[in-house]
Amino acid sequence: MIIWLQIIIIAIILHYVISEKLRQWRMEGNLQGPTTIPFLGNSLLFFGCEAHDIGHRIMQLQNITKYGRVWRIWIGSHLGVFVADPKSLEIILKSNEVLNKSAVYNAVADFADGIVTSSGEKWRGLRKIVNTIFHNQNIENQVNIINNSSMVLCRLLEEKCDGRIFKIDNFIHECLLDITCKIIASSKTDMQLKENLTFTDDVRLGIHLSSDRCLKVWLHPDFIYEHTTAGKLKNAIVKKILGFSLELIKERRESLKGVKNSITVDGQHEAKPKIFLDHMFDYGREKNLTDLEISKFITDVILAGYDTSSCAISYMLLMLAMYQDIQEQVYEEIYDITGDSNRPVELKDINRMACLDRVIMEVLRHCSVPHVARRVDSPLQLQDKLIPKRSTLYLMLYRLHRDPEYWSHPDSFYPDHFLPENIERRPKYTFLPFVSGPRGCPGQKLSSILMKIIVSTILRQYKVTTTVRPSEVKLSMTMMLEVSGGSQIQLTRR
Ligand code: HEM
Ligand SMILES: *[C@@H]1O[C@H](CO)[C@@H](O)[C@H](O)[C@H]1NC(C)=O
Ligand SMILES: *[C@@H]1O[C@H](CO)[C@@H](O)[C@H](O)[C@H]1NC(C)=O
Ligand SMILES: *[C@@H]1O[C@H](CO)[C@@H](O)[C@H](O)[C@H]1NC(C)=O
Ligand SMILES: *[C@@H]1O[C@H](CO)[C@@H](O)[C@H](O)[C@H]1NC(C)=O
Ligand SMILES: *[C@@H]1O[C@H](CO)[C@@H](O)[C@H](O)[C@H]1NC(C)=O
Ligand SMILES: *[C@@H]1O[C@H](CO)[C@@H](O)[C@H](O)[C@H]1NC(C)=O
Repeated sequence: MIIWLQIIIIAIILHYVISEKLRQWRMEGNLQGPTTIPFLGNSLLFFGCEAHDIGHRIMQLQNITKYGRVWRIWIGSHLGVFVADPKSLEIILKSNEVLNKSAVYNAVADFADGIVTSSGEKWRGLRKIVNTIFHNQNIENQVNIINNSSMVLCRLLEEKCDGRIFKIDNFIHECLLDITCKIIASSKTDMQLKENLTFTDDVRLGIHLSSDRCLKVWLHPDFIYEHTTAGKLKNAIVKKILGFSLELIKERRESLKGVKNSITVDGQHEAKPKIFLDHMFDYGREKNLTDLEISKFITDVILAGYDTSSCAISYMLLMLAMYQDIQEQVYEEIYDITGDSNRPVELKDINRMACLDRVIMEVLRHCSVPHVARRVDSPLQLQDKLIPKRSTLYLMLYRLHRDPEYWSHPDSFYPDHFLPENIERRPKYTFLPFVSGPRGCPGQKLSSILMKIIVSTILRQYKVTTTVRPSEVKLSMTMMLEVSGGSQIQLTRR
């Protein structure tokens, strides 16, 4: 008995010593972070956390005076390195060595598995296809699509224009979903008018269930998960989400058939320019993919396209409602451009909206993607720190964008942060809502056009107000940041 006890104690001590050695060996870079315990590392710090608490928990742990702007957490034997330092971010984003995405994105792989989540050659191939969306010759048509959808949005909002407070988020989600589907798939369906559209809610639930499973290790084996209530619900949701994308694929295939058969008056085939989905079909033929596999690729792009911009627009409307003086400035600026005419905002107007530009940037400072996770595949030197391979780098955009060192009003809504003289004063790589470099967001320019057209279309018709006070706004943090409980606003006709 005693002997067994001794053996167990010695084994535990040995394991402790060896694992600590291993840890030190792998952490050559003297990264600081919370004290670890054997086996578990820092896991206990997250004990009892729900998926949506994790981000906030990490923010609480982050203590710049103690650990610096590059610090670490051990989850068991896995090392996570958090980076919120402009110099280090510059090194990472310029190096082209850290382009692969972390395995955390695999959580959503059963419905969104494409460019955002992939790595290596697969990513490179998909990126080429996605870049076709942003060719210059497509902009004119995209502006048209955005104009049409934002007009429909304003018509639908009329119903809500009775002074009562309501949540505008789903209206915006569906408008952005409509625009995204029209841009990438030439969808003829008007998503905003579609009865019982549940796609945006399904996606929310799908992401929630996925991140919840991620945390609960005992749910990882498929044969267990499939028998739980959550597992069954998740399967049903995944089916619905992919069903939506499969419908887009079907619709496009049908309409391409139509084009092949329709011969114009002078006997020529109509030469329609290829859209993103057509390129995706080519890729699918080349790689022998099923429509189901293609549907996961396009769901990924749809999510990247609509969710980010619609969360930002909802947040912007809430901010403009709370800060009436800023709303007035934005409105005046739009009025100066379009005057009393009914004409919609056009491409040539976009660059004249300096005030709205500042508002958009301030919104993105607060409310965009909280962090991006990249996989370190070969050791990376970050100034005086060496990041070992097989660790995960978290680019902490949320923290970076609220660092009092760089922002005079880190936690308030203060568009003057983006006055030219203030931009001038900040170091580079302090504002990265779209990240940057070859893996950065390709939709940056498009999203600026989107936000300007939609917000100006709404503001020209409606005055936005709210009873919510700035101190009451809480952001929830999962893959995106959004206002907990939604953007509660009131509309009145101008
Ligand atoms: C406010 C709007 C938007 C924000 C804040 C935003 C932000 C981001 C961020 C942070 C990433 C991850 C970059 C990285 O891993 O380094 C990303 C990726 C991406 N975004 Fe956006 N985005 C926005 C709008 C759009 C739009 C309108 C599209 C159009 C379809 C789009 C398409 C994509 C795609 C395809 C990727 C994956 C790029 C890759 O992995 O190579 N985004 N975006
Ligand atoms: C951060 O660490 C410093 C030094 O250890 C400590 O004095 C300070 O209270 C900590 N701040 C927070 C917010 O925990
Ligand atoms: C990214 O991952 C792929 C495998 O998926 C690997 O071949 C490649 O070397 C990695 N790229 C970098 C820059 O480490
Ligand atoms: C926009 O709407 C107009 C009129 O409703 C229509 O003629 C035009 O084809 C639409 N454009 C696009 C790109 O959907
Ligand atoms: C904008 O959309 C409206 C409604 O769909 C349409 O009547 C109008 O012609 C469009 N204007 C431009 C410039 O595309
Ligand atoms: C939409 O939902 C309502 C109530 O849930 C139902 O009565 C209606 O048939 C549905 N419409 C469609 C087109 O599915
Ligand atoms: C494509 O897939 C089918 C069915 O799985 C298979 O029979 C065929 O050989 C594959 N073709 C290529 C080029 O891989």
